[in-house]
Amino acid sequence: MDRSESYRVKQFNLSGLKGISDRTLEMHFKLYEGYVKEANRLRERNSEILKDGEIDENELPAFSELEHRLGFEYNGMVLHEHYFGNLKKDGGGDPERGSAFIKAAESSFGSCDIWKTDFVSVAKMRGVGWAICYQNPSNGRLSNHWISLHEIGNVAGFSPVLVMDVWEHAFLLDYKPAERSKYIAAFFANVDWRAVDERLRGAARNAVSSDAAWLQHG
Ligand SMILES: [Fe+2]
Repeated sequence: MDRSESYRVKQFNLSGLKGISDRTLEMHFKLYEGYVKEANRLRERNSEILKDGEIDENELPAFSELEHRLGFEYNGMVLHEHYFGNLKKDGGGDPERGSAFIKAAESSFGSCDIWKTDFVSVAKMRGVGWAICYQNPSNGRLSNHWISLHEIGNVAGFSPVLVMDVWEHAFLLDYKPAERSKYIAAFFANVDWRAVDERLRGAARNAVSSDAAWLQHG
């Protein structure tokens, strides 16, 4: 993993969401900052070990442990940025007719309602983790996946387009643990569908440019 520069905490202005309190968000932003800080700290510690250009067998256990933890902290950082980035005040409602998301959901699931049933069912799975709608950039299709913790279940090469935190810390100040359905409804009341569409367009652009690069080198 690249160790050349530090990750920076991003700012999100989400005050006044429907059904997700400012108190929850303030606590959640602090947790997110912790992931950024820890990801940087782990990178620095492994850079120290690598500084002399080798990792000997005495260093390997510590190096390995730090790398495992980096997978957790790094994905925790990135997924929180996606989560906060697909919420907004006065968001929610249905995606616009004719939007890239609606088209992708219809061609992948038959209808947006069926896509949502699938996504919500993933989000209701027991345990702590994430419900994520990904796009496969090679064919444009959407699929929903459960991610355990932050790092287990991410699909290699797929692009996250809608990311929902379903760790209990995301809603425990607002709802009881057994009321996850209410939190899921609150999440959908605040989705920034325009941000979701931008991610879809970005994934399509990246797919085109990586295909072009492959053709040039193939
Ligand atoms: Fe979280």
